[in-house]
Amino acid sequence: MKLLAIVCSKHLGNTMQIAEAMAEVAPLTITDFENAKNYKLSEYDAVGFGGGIYAGSHDKELIKFISKLENVPPYSFVFSTSATGNYKKQNGRLIKLLEEKGSTVLGSFGCRALCKFFIFALAGGVNKGRPNTDDFDAAQAFIGQVMQKYEEMKK
Ligand SMILES: Cc1cc2nc3c(=O)[nH]c(=O)nc-3n(C[C@H](O)[C@H](O)[C@H](O)COP(=O)(O)O)c2cc1C
Repeated sequence: MKLLAIVCSKHLGNTMQIAEAMAEVAPLTITDFENAKNYKLSEYDAVGFGGGIYAGSHDKELIKFISKLENVPPYSFVFSTSATGNYKKQNGRLIKLLEEKGSTVLGSFGCRALCKFFIFALAGGVNKGRPNTDDFDAAQAFIGQVMQKYEEMKK
């Protein structure tokens, strides 16, 4: 199995850390968003789209990138980190977009992570120490579930 993760982790690299944890237990290639154009998405069994949450959803450029894809990956997954960790809502926009374009979203993951935006920076940020080992464990369990779901769907 070949997995690709396209990660837009501009604030503090929090979401990149989550992707790197996943790659320790899965055949996952990671690219940052800026280099995503160098990868042929059709060469992967499933493509993950991940990033920090900025003003309620994933980075606008990432959303635009997916909107413009002529062929979305048939199988995808979505992940994020944010101050609140409310990923069920925050991943929604990307999931909806992928599904509207015909992709089967195999899973959605998110967790709280350090935020130093604006006034939060004054106290050194909120969610200090996150993502932590529990978050990495949860991310690794998640990618395991994504692979399992893919195998089940391909039967
Ligand atoms: C400009 C900006 C806007 C943000 N907006 C939100 C938000 O709407 N909701 C939230 O929960 N966290 C918000 N955050 C916190 C980030 O989502 C959080 O720090 C995330 O882990 C950043 O991920 P990254 O380091 O991978 O970019 C915001 C952070 C920044 C810098």
